[in-house]
Amino acid sequence: MDLIEAMRSQPANRYYKPDPVPTEVFHRAMDNARFGPQGGNRQPVRFLIVTDPAKKAQLAEWYWIPWSAYYEQAIAAGEAMQAESGDVMATKAVMTKASMVAANDFAENFANHPAIIVACADLAETHPTDTDLGRLSIVGGGSVYPIVQNLCLALRNEGVATTFTTLLCLFEPQVKELLGIPEELATAAHIVAGYPAKPFPTKLTRHPVEEIAFLDSFDNPLTI
Ligand SMILES: Cc1cc2nc3c(=O)[nH]c(=O)nc-3n(C[C@H](O)[C@H](O)[C@H](O)COP(=O)(O)O)c2cc1C
Repeated sequence: MDLIEAMRSQPANRYYKPDPVPTEVFHRAMDNARFGPQGGNRQPVRFLIVTDPAKKAQLAEWYWIPWSAYYEQAIAAGEAMQAESGDVMATKAVMTKASMVAANDFAENFANHPAIIVACADLAETHPTDTDLGRLSIVGGGSVYPIVQNLCLALRNEGVATTFTTLLCLFEPQVKELLGIPEELATAAHIVAGYPAKPFPTKLTRHPVEEIAFLDSFDNPLTI
C-alpha cells in the first residue's frame, strides 16, 4: 500500500476479528521492519509474538491493573472538567471520552486479541547520549521505537491492525518470567495485533503542522 496512506491511517486499533494472523504475515512484516535505524547499527530489538491463550490471559490480568486505575481517574477528571467548562474532555490531552471507552473495551478484551507482540531491547546495545542531563533519558528509545513503528506500518501494509501499549511494562519482571524472556532484555512495548473488526480510519486526530514544526526559530511556525 501507499506509504503515506499507511502513515496516516494506522490508529491504535481497539476492536479485532478473532482470526489468527498467519505466521508468514508476521514474518514478512518483521522482515521489513528490521531495516529501521538504531545507534551504531547494534540491533538491540527482539520481538516475541504471544498467541498462547493461557499466556495472553495472564498478560490481560496484569494489564487490567494499571489500566483500570488510569481509566477511573481519566473518566473522573473528564467529568469534572466537563462540569466546569461544559466541554467534553477539555484538556490538553486529546483522547475523547469515546476513545477512552473504546480503550476500555480493548482492555477488557485484552486476552482475546489475536496476538500480543512483546518488543524487547537489549539496553546495553542502545547508545543513550543524554544520561547526564539531569532529566529523563530518551535517546536510548531511539534505537528501539523506530523499528517498532516500522513493524506497525509493515503490519498495516498487510491489512493487520495494531495497538502500541506500554502499561504492561510495569510488570516487566513478571512478564519476563512468564514468557522466558532472556535476562539482558528489557520490555519496551506490547503491540496488540490482529485483523481489525472495523475498516481502518482514513484520518487520525493530530495537531496541525504549524503547531508542531518551526523554521529556524520557535516563533516561526512551519507554514506554506
Ligand atoms: C508510548 C505509547 C504508549 C501507549 N500506551 C498505551 C497503553 O498502554 N494502552 C493503550 O490502550 N494505548 C496506549 N497507547 C496508544 C495511544 O493511546 C494512542 O496511540 C493515541 O491515543 C492515539 O490514538 P490514535 O492513533 O487511534 O488516534 C500508547 C501509545 C504510545 C505511543
